Amino acid sequence: MTLASPLASATGAAHTRILGIGAYRPSRVVPNADIVEAIDSSDEWIQQRSGIRQRRWADDHETVQMMSVEASRKALERSGLTATDIDCVIVATVSHLLQTPAVATAVAHELGTDQAAAFDISAACAGFCHGVALANDLVRAGSATNVLVIGVERLSDITDLDDRGTAFIFADGAGAAVVGPSDTPGIAPVVWGSDGEQFDLIRQREDWRDVVGTDAAPGSGVMPYLTMQGNPVFRWASFAMAKVAHQALERAGITVDDLDVFVPHQANMRIIDAMARSMKLPEKVRIARDIAEQGNTSAASVPLALDRMIAEGDAKSGDVALLIAFGAGLAYAAQVVVVP
Ligand SMILES: CC(C)(COP(=O)(O)OP(=O)(O)OC[C@H]1O[C@@H](n2cnc3c(N)ncnc32)[C@H](O)[C@@H]1OP(=O)(O)O)[C@@H](O)C(=O)NCCC(=O)NCCS
Repeated sequence: MTLASPLASATGAAHTRILGIGAYRPSRVVPNADIVEAIDSSDEWIQQRSGIRQRRWADDHETVQMMSVEASRKALERSGLTATDIDCVIVATVSHLLQTPAVATAVAHELGTDQAAAFDISAACAGFCHGVALANDLVRAGSATNVLVIGVERLSDITDLDDRGTAFIFADGAGAAVVGPSDTPGIAPVVWGSDGEQFDLIRQREDWRDVVGTDAAPGSGVMPYLTMQGNPVFRWASFAMAKVAHQALERAGITVDDLDVFVPHQANMRIIDAMARSMKLPEKVRIARDIAEQGNTSAASVPLALDRMIAEGDAKSGDVALLIAFGAGLAYAAQVVVVP
C-alpha cells in the first residue's frame, strides 16, 4: 500500500569528489631519542617495530581547533571555494577534550561559514574515512552542497609518555578535505564496519567518572590515557584490513591494476607493508609512508599522508587512490577516491 504524503523530497548531486586537501603539521618535531629514556626503549627498536623515526607533537597554541582551521583554510584554497560555500562541517576526532559542544561548531564559526551544520564524529583512527563517506552521501542526497571533512588529533594530551606500548606511536596534526558535487564519480561507495567484540583492544583507560570521582567513591585524579593491546591489533590490522581493502576496490568496480596510490591509515610501517603484500599491490602503486616522520595521528593520518604525497609528487590530480583506515572500536572504513 502506498502512503499518501504532502512532503517534498531532496535530491542532490549525481556524483561527488574531493575538491581540495589541506594539512597542518604541528611545530614540535620529536625524534625517538627524546622519548626512549622514559620507556626504556631505543631508536633502533622503535624504527624496527613501527618504522617511526620522529613524530610531531603540538605546542600549547596548536589546539584541536587551531590545527583544524589551518588545515581547512588550505583545503578551501585548493578547492577554489570560500568558507561561505561550505554548508556542513564534520570533525573526526577523539582528542577534543571538551565533551560538549562539538569543536566543529567553533571551527565553522572561525572559518566564517554562514551557519553551516557542524558536528563531531567519533570513529577513532577510522574517523576521516567515515567523514568522507558521510560527506559523499550528504551531497548526493541533497542535504549539503559542499562538506568540509576534518580529521584532527592532539593525542599527546591523552598518551601516557611512560607507557612502552603507546608513547612512541601516537602524535598530533590535522588534515581536511572539501567534498562537493562532480560531473563524474570521484568517491566510490564506502566499505565500513565494526567489531565491538574487540572494544577493549584500544581504548581510553578509564571512564571520566573514575577520574573525577562520584559521591560514592573518590576518583583517581589521573588523566584517562589511551591503552592498547598492540599484538592483537597488529594481527587484526595486517590481515582483516587487506580483505576490506579488496572489497572497497570491488565496490568501486576496479582492481589493484587500476590503482595509482594506496593511502592506508598510518598506524605502523609493518602493518602498511603487510597489507601491501597481502593485497598483491603492483610495483607501480605508490604507497603512503608518512608515519616515518609524523607518527600515528589517528583521524588525521589519512589526509596528512595524502597531502604529503600530493606535495611530493607521488600523487597527482586524477590519480585513483584507495583510502583505508581502522582503529579503536574496532572500527574501519575504506573507499576509492580520485585525487583532487
Ligand atoms: C606496539 C607494537 C609495535 C609492539 O610490537 P610487538 O612486536 O607486538 O611487541 P610485544 O608487545 O610483543 O613485545 C615484544 C618485546 O619487545 C619489548 N617491548 C615492548 N615495548 C617496547 C618498547 N617500547 N621498547 C623496547 N622494547 C619493547 C617487550 O618487552 C617484549 O620483550 P620480550 O620479547 O623480551 O618479552 C606492535 O604490537 C604494533 O605495532 N601494534 C599495532 C599498533 C598500532 O598500529 N596501533 C594503532 C592502531 S590504530
